[in-house]
Amino acid sequence: MNNMLSPLGGSILARWKMIIERGCVKRNMKTRITELLGIEYPIIQGGMAWVGTHELASAVSNAGGLGLIGAGGAPASWVREQIQACKEETDKPFGVNLMLMNAEADEIAKVIAEENVKVVTTGAGNPGKYINMWKEAGTVIIPVVASVALARMMEKSGVSAVVAEGTESGGHIGAATTMTLVPQVVDAVNIPVIAAGGIADGRGMAAAFMLGAEAVQMGTRFVASIESIAHQNYKDRIVKAKDIDSEVTGLSYGHPVRVLRNQMTKDYLKMEKDGVPFEEVEKLTLGSLKKAVVDGDTKYGSLMAGQIAGLVSRNDLTCKEIIEEIVTEACRLMGVDK
Ligand SMILES: Cc1cc2nc3c(=O)[nH]c(=O)nc-3n(C[C@H](O)[C@H](O)[C@H](O)COP(=O)(O)O)c2cc1C
Repeated sequence: MNNMLSPLGGSILARWKMIIERGCVKRNMKTRITELLGIEYPIIQGGMAWVGTHELASAVSNAGGLGLIGAGGAPASWVREQIQACKEETDKPFGVNLMLMNAEADEIAKVIAEENVKVVTTGAGNPGKYINMWKEAGTVIIPVVASVALARMMEKSGVSAVVAEGTESGGHIGAATTMTLVPQVVDAVNIPVIAAGGIADGRGMAAAFMLGAEAVQMGTRFVASIESIAHQNYKDRIVKAKDIDSEVTGLSYGHPVRVLRNQMTKDYLKMEKDGVPFEEVEKLTLGSLKKAVVDGDTKYGSLMAGQIAGLVSRNDLTCKEIIEEIVTEACRLMGVDK
């Protein structure tokens, strides 16, 4: 057995040993991620600009997952207020998602360290310059990556885990699908991998674990939760969405964003096809996520959501109900205990 070669290279015994060590063959839902973050279930609510407020983050954390405050393009003072409100609402671990292109990224990075936030996830770049400061503050650093190369680079820089986010996701996206990206990242790094993009039920969670992930991150499903502050119109659009109702705007400009189809995406894609310069087209999307989340403008707002919106059939469940439903289903499929 030891000498038999696995089709993917290496001996079969060595490959099984690695799979068991990484938690892919399991008795329960505990993984290196639940250990590292001190959470009950390996479910993370993805950081979401405008949607990821203290209300959502604390609800997810109180339900046994990890809630994230989405700093998005917000100022550092708002992020501090959100962190402080979250501390009032939960004594469980929670985190902050920092979009590195935020104009106040340096200040927000400092706020995260000063407030001793348990976890930071980062999007849109390389968080290298903040790593020492966060490590000194005891903050666990988990960058979001969309390629094997970035995952490898992040592991070298000393982060604790990565989120491998597939192109099915809502919001800003990379090119590879979750199905192809996750196992390739799992094989490329030794740190634990969290799968994101296209996961909204227990089947998706179990599938992610089969690919070698040790936790899942969901965005779209949580936008449609009771505690999400997203406008009811937005939540209703997610429930009404079908499998092919999302569009990717900005692909040809190198800024692809996945949103649900509406008048704004029609106008945008037409201008994009006609070769209108990015600076001009971008005017359509300035402030448009706020329009969707706060004003409930489903015509011209950016209804960021993933392809999995088609599977989301209810928006009247709490985060606790969502998490318990998903974990129960995943456990049943995987034949493991919670
Ligand atoms: C409304 C919305 C806003 C988002 N904003 C951010 C963000 O600010 N930073 C980030 O790293 N990811 C952001 N994302 C991506 C999520 O964190 C998550 O990785 C993604 O939604 C997972 O895919 P899913 O939507 O298929 O569950 C956003 C997603 C949505 C739906």
